[in-house]
Amino acid sequence: MELSALMNYDAEELRQADLDHCIHPWPDFEDWPQTGATIMVRGEGAHVWDAEGRKFIDGIGGLWFANVGFGRQELIDAATKQLAELPQYSYFTDLGNPPAAQLAAKLAELTPGDLNHVFYSTGGSVANDTAGRTAHYYFNNQGKPSKRLFISRRNAYHGSTYLSAALSGKMSDKRGFHSPDGLVHYLSAPNCYRMPPGSNGEAAYCDHLVEEFEGKVAELGADRIAAFFAEPIMGAGGVLVAPAGYHQRMKAVCEANDILYVSDEVVTGFGRLGHFFASEAVFGVVPDMITVAKGITSGYMPLGATLVSERVYAGLSKPRADGGGFAHGFTYSGHAAACAVALANIEVMQREDLCGRVRQTGPYFLKRLQTLADLLIVGDVRGSHFMLCVELVQDRRTKALFPEQVAIEKRIDRETQARGMIVRLIDNLCVLSPALILTREGIDEMVNILRESIEAVMAGLHREGIPFGD
Ligand SMILES: Cc1ncc(COP(=O)(O)O)c(C=O)c1O
Repeated sequence: MELSALMNYDAEELRQADLDHCIHPWPDFEDWPQTGATIMVRGEGAHVWDAEGRKFIDGIGGLWFANVGFGRQELIDAATKQLAELPQYSYFTDLGNPPAAQLAAKLAELTPGDLNHVFYSTGGSVANDTAGRTAHYYFNNQGKPSKRLFISRRNAYHGSTYLSAALSGKMSDKRGFHSPDGLVHYLSAPNCYRMPPGSNGEAAYCDHLVEEFEGKVAELGADRIAAFFAEPIMGAGGVLVAPAGYHQRMKAVCEANDILYVSDEVVTGFGRLGHFFASEAVFGVVPDMITVAKGITSGYMPLGATLVSERVYAGLSKPRADGGGFAHGFTYSGHAAACAVALANIEVMQREDLCGRVRQTGPYFLKRLQTLADLLIVGDVRGSHFMLCVELVQDRRTKALFPEQVAIEKRIDRETQARGMIVRLIDNLCVLSPALILTREGIDEMVNILRESIEAVMAGLHREGIPFGD
């Protein structure tokens, strides 16, 4: 029997309802009426099924979040039990719940350094907004109200709320919106594939990036800067792995200038790089704040968290001379059912040593993906462990991109979906971030599909007389 019949809906009706009434994030209104959305209805392990019953290998892990995979009974049971007992209740001021308290203690155990305090929210954007507001509050409480500017990097992605969108550095995403004037200042993204001309290797490039930060601090004044935001590996901005030593040196600049270092681990947290947190374990940095979401519940419930150090907490919890307190929070802060799921998620990850598995399988994944480098439109293959990317270019020698009208991303998307795989296409980038349970066989399957899809796209370009190559 058709899956849609079993689920008691009409696939076409669903597609039409979605088309007529839903506003999706980052819609492509140019061909929206023709394409509409692929409606996903079910997941199991590292696979998903759409409303028409088609099965896909989930190359994007939902959207960098399905870390333990779909259909995990422990997570479903944890949610069901907590929903029956008490889904959520006010968490404001002096009210709390057991899963939120237990999860906070667990997170404090897993975080690096003394990041022992947790502020709960509902997702990554809000966790970053919270980090920004916390930095302001902290410095105001220290009697340093002028420290209010933020430093971020071009191409960074920190979210879509007003502040987190301002912290994000992809300038094309800002078209049509307003941002708070002058609040956020941007440094270069650390892009080792596209280092500026004349760069003399990665070490010299790293010097250049650190000097740029120092220059920015000198220009703005350390007494005006509150915090520096950075993803350990820039995700949506291109899966950019910074040169060796970069994060430690940027942290040193922060320390020298009393700037808080906020590590956005919304993607890298919870095992994607083989550790619960990548900041210290991979990059040798103990941040002042870490923001997480996505993998904290493997996407079974919306949850975000801002983890803060003892130092930041001391500033935050100091009674204010003018009265009042940390007036910041959400109806769903400390959501009991979401926190219960997060606890079950962490338990599964630890029991199955998913971080250890990622540390073992990750290098194989990258090595297999690097075999695509012989394809003439593959410019770069990069990333780490379960956070990888293939960059497509028209000319490998000059690294020039295909013109926008070629719509290379749509071509790859069509070919991969036709072969039963979902890949995240960001402009010319094919991003892969599957569930951490993916086996070597699953990795081989993904790489094979991607190869066939790129080859099919190249054949199409050739037929249309669109040039590419070395
Ligand atoms: C690094 C990073 N930070 C923050 C966010 C925003 O998280 P959310 O979409 O849960 O608000 C994302 C989302 O992809 C992200 O990749």
